[in-house]
Amino acid sequence: MTTALVTGATSGIGAAFARRLARDRYDLVLVARDREALRRQATELHDRHGVEAAVLGADLATEEGIAAVADRLQDRSQPVGLLVNNAGFGLSGPYLDASVAEELAMLRVHCEAVLRLTSAAAGAMRERGRGGVVNVASVAAFLNRGTYGASKAWVVRFTEAAARELRGSGVRLLALCPGFVRTEFHRRAGMRVDRIPGWMWLDADRVVDAGLRDLARGRTVSVPDARYKILMGAARLLPRAALGGLTSRAGRRFGPQH
Ligand SMILES: NC(=O)c1ccc[n+]([C@@H]2O[C@H](COP(=O)([O-])OP(=O)(O)OC[C@H]3O[C@@H](n4cnc5c(N)ncnc54)[C@H](OP(=O)(O)O)[C@@H]3O)[C@@H](O)[C@H]2O)c1
Repeated sequence: MTTALVTGATSGIGAAFARRLARDRYDLVLVARDREALRRQATELHDRHGVEAAVLGADLATEEGIAAVADRLQDRSQPVGLLVNNAGFGLSGPYLDASVAEELAMLRVHCEAVLRLTSAAAGAMRERGRGGVVNVASVAAFLNRGTYGASKAWVVRFTEAAARELRGSGVRLLALCPGFVRTEFHRRAGMRVDRIPGWMWLDADRVVDAGLRDLARGRTVSVPDARYKILMGAARLLPRAALGGLTSRAGRRFGPQH
């Protein structure tokens, strides 16, 4: 059986990846900070699907946490065939309202961890001539908004560049860019989301299905759902400055409230 390692596996999109991959008969390594939640989830997935589910408690905003997960990915005796870099969080309010420490933690989880874990996994996968990496970004990557969007833009650009270099090696990389998904994300960031129209919400299981389908098709960037494909297609046609103004106005009117 192939083993998949999922970061941020205990909630939201990561939990949906873990469920779907267990159903597809992957053995799992589940990563997050809350070890108790990880153990509960591992037991449930094992009991329901008969797969092996190991837990790896790690804070990806710390050196020790990133190093522990990178070590697991480089362990040639227990190969990982699919890595899902999903762990992440948002910060509410304008960027100067967040502390520099919070901003740096976000960069560590969204960028440094994604870089180091992708490198650890892809190196081992290239030796075997096969494997996949899904880096969970966001449509915010295309919208020129906030430090969150900037960190996710890095995820998209990095994934595209690494995918280009690894073409022909058997290792596939995908940046998964969802819009609003119903998870713990907004509550944890202290954002109110009651003004976001119902049609903008996506279901985590469907986002995961779309991402894995696009990975299998050899795509490098995946924007799940026709609604967001149309929105992002239109966004690409606008000049950057106009797009920034438009998304700020729409964000103030409909977006998460702080
Ligand atoms: N929800 C959305 O609307 C949306 C849209 C686009 C993209 N995304 C992206 O999707 C990804 C998953 O978010 P979600 O919506 O599923 O959020 P979520 O429900 O809050 O889940 C976040 C997961 O990440 C883990 N995590 C957070 N900080 C961590 C850290 N420092 N080290 C290790 N694990 C950490 C959490 O577990 P612990 O707290 O136990 O560590 C949890 O398992 C994120 O990268 C997010 O940016 C979300």
